[in-house]
Amino acid sequence: MAADDDRPYPADTLGMDSAEMRRLGYAAVDAVIEHLESKNNSPAIASSDADTLLAALGGALPEQPQATDKSLELLMHTALHHQQHGDHPRYFARVPGPSSYAAIIGEWLGVGFNTIAASWPGGAGPSAIELIVINWLCQLMGLPEDYEGVLVSGGSQASLTAIAAVRASRGPGCVYLSDQTHASLGRALRTLGFDERHIRLLPSDAEHRLTEETVATAIAEDSRNGLSPLMVIATAGSTNTGVVDPLQELAALCDTWDLWLHVDGAYGAPAALSPKGAATLAGLDRADSLTLDPHKWLFQPYDVGCLLIKPGLLEPCFAMNPEYLKDVQGADNAVDFRNRGFELTRRSRALKLWLSFRSYGVAKFREAIEYSINLTEIAEDYLRKNPTRWEVVTPAQLGIICFSLRGETAEEHERRARALSESGFACVTTTRLKGRTVLRLCIINPLTTEWDIRETIDRLGA
Ligand SMILES: Cc1ncc(COP(=O)(O)O)c(C=O)c1O
Repeated sequence: MAADDDRPYPADTLGMDSAEMRRLGYAAVDAVIEHLESKNNSPAIASSDADTLLAALGGALPEQPQATDKSLELLMHTALHHQQHGDHPRYFARVPGPSSYAAIIGEWLGVGFNTIAASWPGGAGPSAIELIVINWLCQLMGLPEDYEGVLVSGGSQASLTAIAAVRASRGPGCVYLSDQTHASLGRALRTLGFDERHIRLLPSDAEHRLTEETVATAIAEDSRNGLSPLMVIATAGSTNTGVVDPLQELAALCDTWDLWLHVDGAYGAPAALSPKGAATLAGLDRADSLTLDPHKWLFQPYDVGCLLIKPGLLEPCFAMNPEYLKDVQGADNAVDFRNRGFELTRRSRALKLWLSFRSYGVAKFREAIEYSINLTEIAEDYLRKNPTRWEVVTPAQLGIICFSLRGETAEEHERRARALSESGFACVTTTRLKGRTVLRLCIINPLTTEWDIRETIDRLGA
């Protein structure tokens, strides 16, 4: 149907003409591809002080249009330059974000179509994609295909969603986690108003694992004191060391006591795609609920986390169908994703996963993950070749290794990591393990080479 005056509607809501839209769009694509092509020669991390950046990017409120080319340049060269480049081959800090291009395109398309995946009637296509992706992730994790799922902003929100749903279904009770459990889990429990007595933060063993014995002792003690055990939180790939808690044993304990087993695999669970990772993650398929972060080791741009969970808990906890949403309610197999978590208006985080699984094939993901697991073992071998200089503090486990320089202080380790990061060559951080400061590499980018590893270690030790 034509507009009143027979002219077509303009493409842009606020009136930018189509030729300019295309010019800017192509410029953005070119800028991203140039960034990806040259990232090896750019810093792995760049920062600046707040005053400098606020002065460079701020100024008066722009009541009138400013030159868009100048704005793009400010974004690309100032705002986007000054950050951690998690997709850089020598970004080894915290957890890298080695996003892949097909996933970036999936994300852009979703934004371009202003995609919404809140209800089936209002977003049938993207909701179908999300259901398909959730089913694929269940298959990849070895979980039963009737598990439900929801894509969220990240691991923090996935675990928050799981804990809220479990408590809504089973009532309050004690939750068992360890001093190596990611801090977002403790925060989730506090945010949800768990009684401090119910948050049982237990010591990990010498290998930094939450053992079945430790949890069993705590459960027995709580039961004697009249407290009800509710849930065990196991970690499949800890942030500090990559270690996996003994999932089989913890699952058996949960069976005995009829407890819920939530597994935080935000970082490590995707390793299940590779043969070596799958062996390390034995027992993952016994999780009642599982958190994983495709924006970590599944090569997706931020943000996308995922919760996979036994069926029947999410909707009783999160459903809301007020009168103004009655006409956007799905029937039969149609899922209204607003009823599976905390978000109502929600973008589609599934498009990028769907497009990248289809574009590269899962075999490519398996190969990339196995490569990094092997490369971390090569890093361990390299350190062990020089035992008078280096000590391997925790071995290569799911892409993470912790090590230290013999005879050097915590401050010296921190100084070396900082100096290397400031040089831009690589980004490395320290962490603390049982009171001791160590250097840590998290190696999950398939672009990282053996040379990158050797050179990073040599520069840290120089
Ligand atoms: C093991 C683990 N759990 C949870 C999280 C939190 O995930 P997000 O930052 O995506 O919320 C992280 C983040 O690094 C993690 O490594």
